[in-house]
Amino acid sequence: MSDLITSGQGLDRRGFIKNGVAAGIGAVFAASVGTRTAQAAEAAVPAAAPAAAAPAGLGKKLTMGDVLRVAREKLYPLCRVCPECDGVACAGEVPGMGGIGSGKGFKNNYNALAAVELVMRTFHDMTKPNLAVTIYGHKLEMPVMSAATGGVTYNMGNKMKDSEYINAVFGGCLDAGSLGMAADGIGDNLDVYQGRLNILKSFGGKGMMTIKPKSQEEIIKRIRLIEEAGAVAFAVDIDSAGRAARALPGQIVEPKTAKQLEEIVKSTGLPFIVKGVMTVEEARIAVEVGAKGIVVSNHGGRVLDYTPASVTVLPRIADAVRGKITVFFDGAVRRGTDVLKCLALGADCCLVGRPLVRGAHGGGREGVALMMNLFKRELMDAMVLTGTRDVRNVSRDIIAGGIRL
Ligand SMILES: Cc1cc2nc3c(=O)[nH]c(=O)nc-3n(C[C@H](O)[C@H](O)[C@H](O)COP(=O)(O)O)c2cc1C
Repeated sequence: MSDLITSGQGLDRRGFIKNGVAAGIGAVFAASVGTRTAQAAEAAVPAAAPAAAAPAGLGKKLTMGDVLRVAREKLYPLCRVCPECDGVACAGEVPGMGGIGSGKGFKNNYNALAAVELVMRTFHDMTKPNLAVTIYGHKLEMPVMSAATGGVTYNMGNKMKDSEYINAVFGGCLDAGSLGMAADGIGDNLDVYQGRLNILKSFGGKGMMTIKPKSQEEIIKRIRLIEEAGAVAFAVDIDSAGRAARALPGQIVEPKTAKQLEEIVKSTGLPFIVKGVMTVEEARIAVEVGAKGIVVSNHGGRVLDYTPASVTVLPRIADAVRGKITVFFDGAVRRGTDVLKCLALGADCCLVGRPLVRGAHGGGREGVALMMNLFKRELMDAMVLTGTRDVRNVSRDIIAGGIRL
């Protein structure tokens, strides 16, 4: 993920591009000279890239190079596994991996987070910062978890079985000392959802689930199953309310009133997270109704075109509700430095979506763990170099020029 990940990884991003050329993946150098257009990326990889990578698990230590290469072979053209996952090549590809419509929401996420700069401070004696956080009584080795990414069939080209994918995400996150999250597809029947819960149960419930904003009755039905699986918490991705067209016949997805959100809170003892909050007003309502978390998120730019970057709205929302509710954040978090930026801007914990889709497809559970551990190492380095001792208390002074969002 970092341009400079070489030690122990075997291949950095630039090496990945070069390797692509050597393996007959022509014209990839277009990306290396900064031509970041959808067309350039489109030209970069032919549809039938040869399966050149050694499969994971043959006694060889899995490297990030292996993961990215295999992910690209499996996911192309739905995901080109671009050197920078910025929403350009895949703009408009929903279903798929992109942002909806013009793709602006996804691109905004990437560009706004990339524009935040860090102040380096190295006159200190701190070499071992604290990365650990406790979320709903569960200790995480870092404030980074997987986001929910659903649709191995319609978004990711059916290159893994749903069960393999969910196993990779929950297992890999746990291996890296974190927690995974599994999705609820609009078109998924209850038995598909139950299959994901069975996997969560096999991991002792150490993970979270999302539920689409279906009817109250359907949501509560799923909450009972989530409780039974022993999950840490659950979220409703309320921003999926506009995707009714993809719901199965007879199913509804709908916006929720404060009263309905309260009903969900009251229906269970599990922490309830409202995913897809982009305004201070709705964040305050989430607190008032008794939710235990919000995810500041525009759903990776996949639901409403032309949304601002989620990082743009994060500081104001965090200033209004942090300490009263757990503030999760997602939207183009690609590196440990991104995590640190978001913590400085008020997030308690970051969720990572597309990078783990690559991890799972490129190396299964091990690939996800590799990605997650890379976030951890990069975060640790960034904390040392900004003089940040503790992820639970990150100063905004580490943001260069203050907040210019
Ligand atoms: C392929 C794909 C499928 C997704 N499916 C879901 C979903 O079913 N439920 C949900 O709440 N969010 C879903 N998301 C959104 C993610 O949870 C998250 O908000 C977003 O991906 C974060 O941005 P990032 O991928 O740039 O890290 C999906 C995202 C992608 C890329």
